[in-house]
Amino acid sequence: MELGVNIDHVATLRNARGGNEPSVLDAAIIAQRAGASAITIHLREDRRHIKDSDLDEIKKNIKTNINLEMAATPEMQAIAIKNKPYSCCIVPEKRQEITTEGGLDVYSQENYIRDFIKPLHDAGIVVSLFIDPDEKQVFSAHNCNADFIELHTGAFSNAFSTEKEKEEFEKLKTAAALAQNLGLKVNAGHGLNYENVHLMHEIEGIIELNIGHSIISRAVFVGLERAIEEMRDLII
Ligand code: PXP
Repeated sequence: MELGVNIDHVATLRNARGGNEPSVLDAAIIAQRAGASAITIHLREDRRHIKDSDLDEIKKNIKTNINLEMAATPEMQAIAIKNKPYSCCIVPEKRQEITTEGGLDVYSQENYIRDFIKPLHDAGIVVSLFIDPDEKQVFSAHNCNADFIELHTGAFSNAFSTEKEKEEFEKLKTAAALAQNLGLKVNAGHGLNYENVHLMHEIEGIIELNIGHSIISRAVFVGLERAIEEMRDLII
């Protein structure tokens, strides 16, 4: 499996003091050097961490694939088409949430999402939908012509080491298998850490894991490069 590194939390730290420290671009450069397959950034509507200028700088200076997480809004669609990241991962977004709490409900807005994806495809952007491991969401992602789904591993991560772990894990396995049968490629992420990530090897066919919080947290103690390398060693 490959490792997409989410560097949003570097921006969160930077924004805490309002200056340019730590540099989000430097984080992207280090992630690239440490072998990340993608640099993932989430440009939120409220710009609470990543800013438009971060996307611009990363785009100009980084060769590794950029995976732009974003809400399905016309504003974000226009930004993506202008900047042409390698991929866009469409996520639900609520202003009050601390992080992306659930998957995108593709099922109840299939027509909107299909129409939303089309211009992104026309611009040559690979499109992924961040969904819960739920059969009807997988079918809808397929109906919308998504290239990838990213399975939300948050419920599994929260259940890790509890009696619900197996149940949540089986949902991921079933959804990943169904998606691949339908011709969708599969990524996964959210809440994965150095303790639970090894279980992702047991899900057939996952291409890339997108991991942020645990890597940036570990980086505080061992440095970003080592934190990424340690995670890569666990998933490779
Ligand atoms: N994938 C998606 C779509 C996300 O929204 C996030 C959180 O920003 C992640 C992966 C990474 O989650 P975490 O920070 O818990 O590793």
